[in-house]
Amino acid sequence: MEIHAIRGVRDILPDEIAKWHYVERVARRVLETHGYAEIRTPLFEKTALFTRGIGETTDIVEKEMYTFPDKGGEMITLRPEATASITRAYTEHKLYFPPGLVKVYCIGPMFRYERPQAGRYRQFHQIDAEALGSGSPYIDAEMIALLMTLLREIGLQKLDLHLNSLGDSTCRPPYREALRQFLAEKLSLLCKDCQGRYERNPLRMLDCKNPSCQDILAAAPAMYDYLCSPCREHLETVLSLLTAVGISYVLNARLVRGLDYYTRTTFEILAPGLGAQNAVVGGGRYDGLVEAIGGPPTPGIGFAIGMERLIALLEETGMHFPSIHPEVFFAVLGEKAQFKAFQMVHTMRGRGIPVEMEYDPKSLKSQLRKANKANVRYTLILGEDELAKGKIILKDMTGDTQEEVDIEKVIDLLQEKLPLQTSE
Ligand code: HAM
Repeated sequence: MEIHAIRGVRDILPDEIAKWHYVERVARRVLETHGYAEIRTPLFEKTALFTRGIGETTDIVEKEMYTFPDKGGEMITLRPEATASITRAYTEHKLYFPPGLVKVYCIGPMFRYERPQAGRYRQFHQIDAEALGSGSPYIDAEMIALLMTLLREIGLQKLDLHLNSLGDSTCRPPYREALRQFLAEKLSLLCKDCQGRYERNPLRMLDCKNPSCQDILAAAPAMYDYLCSPCREHLETVLSLLTAVGISYVLNARLVRGLDYYTRTTFEILAPGLGAQNAVVGGGRYDGLVEAIGGPPTPGIGFAIGMERLIALLEETGMHFPSIHPEVFFAVLGEKAQFKAFQMVHTMRGRGIPVEMEYDPKSLKSQLRKANKANVRYTLILGEDELAKGKIILKDMTGDTQEEVDIEKVIDLLQEKLPLQTSE
């Protein structure tokens, strides 16, 4: 019986990979221009890191983690996101010495046991950036500006930036209470999920997708009106900095995010074209997280881009991605020629020339058909006659012209003709 991939995960096939490479290449360049260095943390961690970091009552921790005991009996979780892992690494390796801002990014797979649907997978990929060590609103604005530059450089322009402040430990509790009071008499009219959240995590009720809940919640008090003055000032500075660099935003009082570590600035980038799973980016400030996992009090902020959703949007733009294909095809006639070609192909590849040859050669015609299909610039043709004369035929596939050249000189000649292969 054929074995298939697990539900909710997918292969990224060779003909799709150019898009992924492109996105990763642009992301690395833009992130590094902004002073972010790559960090690679393990794909699995102790479960306690995520329960403590993300929050016991979040959907991720309650329902979505891939958690299992390893052979030693330790509870292990496949990372559902990168922020908790990065703050763990920051704390463990004392990256807070010397004091200052630490800017890191990570690109890789995350795992959540969610119900699979378009744009929602059980293994998906994120580009995640985190800045630890500064509570300044300037870093919030820098982070968002970096994100917008990154998305623009990738080729996406029309995206909606939604922004909110979730306050801090001074102003959020009174807001939570106000929200509870507002909802107390309306509880029976709300959906089961909202009822469940009322006690444990009432703020999460604000982003319920159920239309009748949304109608009721439209009149709910807004966090913005409850912000303490330092949080309000922080938000206002962020907004004015964004305006100063020409970034428009929607102030969205209903944006609460699904992870408990957030404080103050939170944001999402939504793409209406994506359907139900329309958040391409989520992020925000988490000034209590490092301390919650045992590190020194350290403010932090970051975002994560969902790569599957980003690539789906790129596909909609009709952008062309170059596929990987050889520049040269080596066609042979006869065993001796094939033997010689094998040696020459090895030398050419060693000198950076992307070349393919046929190991089960049929007619010259069928090899030329292959060369055409592979979209090569040049085809080399070597038969026993040419070999005996020390010659080879070099066929220019674009001009459809051909010449007989010295077999010993043909590699140098090709190297001159072909564009320099770079490692990027
Ligand atoms: P998040 O909102 O949970 O935030 O995820 C960020 C992005 O990852 C989402 O906007 C979405 O594009 C993508 N994503 C999430 N779940 C799935 C899924 N099941 N399938 C496909 N794509 C998905 C975080 O993960 C935070 N760690 C972001 C952050 C970094 N906050 C501060 N620093």
